[in-house]
Amino acid sequence: MRKKIVAGNWKMNTDLNQALDLAREIRLSNYDKSATLIIIPPFPFLYSIVEATNNSVIQVGAQNCSKNKNGAFTGEVSAEMLNSVGVKYVIVGHSERRTYFKETNQELAEKIKECLSNKLIPIYCCGELLEDRTNENHFEVVKTQLSEALFHLSPDQMKGIIIAYEPVWAIGTGVTASPEQAQEMHQYIRQFIAKKFGDTIANSISILYGGSCNAANAKELFALPDVDGGLIGGASLKAVDFVAISNSF
Ligand code: 13P
Repeated sequence: MRKKIVAGNWKMNTDLNQALDLAREIRLSNYDKSATLIIIPPFPFLYSIVEATNNSVIQVGAQNCSKNKNGAFTGEVSAEMLNSVGVKYVIVGHSERRTYFKETNQELAEKIKECLSNKLIPIYCCGELLEDRTNENHFEVVKTQLSEALFHLSPDQMKGIIIAYEPVWAIGTGVTASPEQAQEMHQYIRQFIAKKFGDTIANSISILYGGSCNAANAKELFALPDVDGGLIGGASLKAVDFVAISNSF
């Protein structure tokens, strides 16, 4: 059985008090205890949020990490630092980082290596631009994102990865991928992983959908055979919406 996962990427939102209120409200809510719930606040609040969610099933993730181990990299945050404050997951390769910070698949491969050496589970994001889909190039784009950043891993390492398919045209736009588009791509991703790592590993990896996923459409998306949950942006900033999404399996 694959893990059902709902992860909330808070992006660059909230201040400390709002972050703590949001985490506490989620903790006190009636969320699906059989699903893995991950909240992913901005860096400065991670330690406080880890403390606020202690002794609950809620896990904490970070939105990024450095590809370097340590040293003179002003402003960077290492995987080891994240591990030391109780973070368990790291988003790697979000489209906003690929676009605004020009992160390449090669750099993302290094970040994934750093995460794994520090017992952090990467949530690796892939997904095509609107023009890629219009040009019917979307499978090719996702294939390259997967092979260049993940295919150097050993089967054992690959087992521990979470993948998030986030079509860029669906992020923050209110336009969700249709169930057919989501299932088609998730199945493609799983089959592509199976070709390299075999069916057992491909069938054990959770593939999340992200992009305007909300309380109203989560049920339909999560019911798809290859969709194992969601990476949620906007709707994760309201506890009631995030919890409703977690109850959509
Ligand atoms: P939205 O849910 O706001 O579209 O964002 C999705 C996302 O980018 C999650 O990482």
